[in-house]
Amino acid sequence: MKKLLIVYHSLTGGSAQMAQAAAAGAASSTGVAVQLQSASQTAPEHLLAADGYLFACPENLASMAGLMKDFFDRCYYPVLGRLNGRPYAVMICAGSDGSNAARQIERIATGWRLEQIAPTIIVCTHAQTPERILQAKQIGSEELAQCRELGATMASGLEMGIF
Ligand SMILES: Cc1cc2nc3c(=O)[nH]c(=O)nc-3n(C[C@H](O)[C@H](O)[C@H](O)COP(=O)(O)O)c2cc1C
Repeated sequence: MKKLLIVYHSLTGGSAQMAQAAAAGAASSTGVAVQLQSASQTAPEHLLAADGYLFACPENLASMAGLMKDFFDRCYYPVLGRLNGRPYAVMICAGSDGSNAARQIERIATGWRLEQIAPTIIVCTHAQTPERILQAKQIGSEELAQCRELGATMASGLEMGIF
């Protein structure tokens, strides 16, 4: 059975909802095992054991969130050259931008020689004040539907051997 690994980090819940929506979409493919886990619990062996990847995290301080970066820092060299050609996609939760976090993850994925199967989804929560930025987030149904669709696309592609 093919395996889809969804790696995420979330401070106020937005990226977690996006990752969960993608996992729910992927679950429609019965021939694919979906593993949803936090970046801090993800190790090189999890990457090696999977056939495709979704990465989800917030943009913090014009960068991917630190714990997501820690995941890539820990895993980059142990798996370098051993994931070539596997499919991936990215979901970013941001206040108003998200483009730097997207670019950073896509660059790392290029280093791993992964194949991007869909454009990165960036969801902006439009929180502007410190209080609202630190509040728990509720991602809208349309954005969650996009994430579900991405998970379904990835899983069906894996199941049919397209990726
Ligand atoms: C310390 C900090 C820094 C942030 N920096 C950015 C930023 O550079 N660009 C941006 O668009 N949003 C920024 N945000 C907003 C978050 O990306 C936004 O609140 C997002 O919804 C968080 O995702 P999460 O709910 O998964 O934690 C920042 C939030 C925090 C807490």
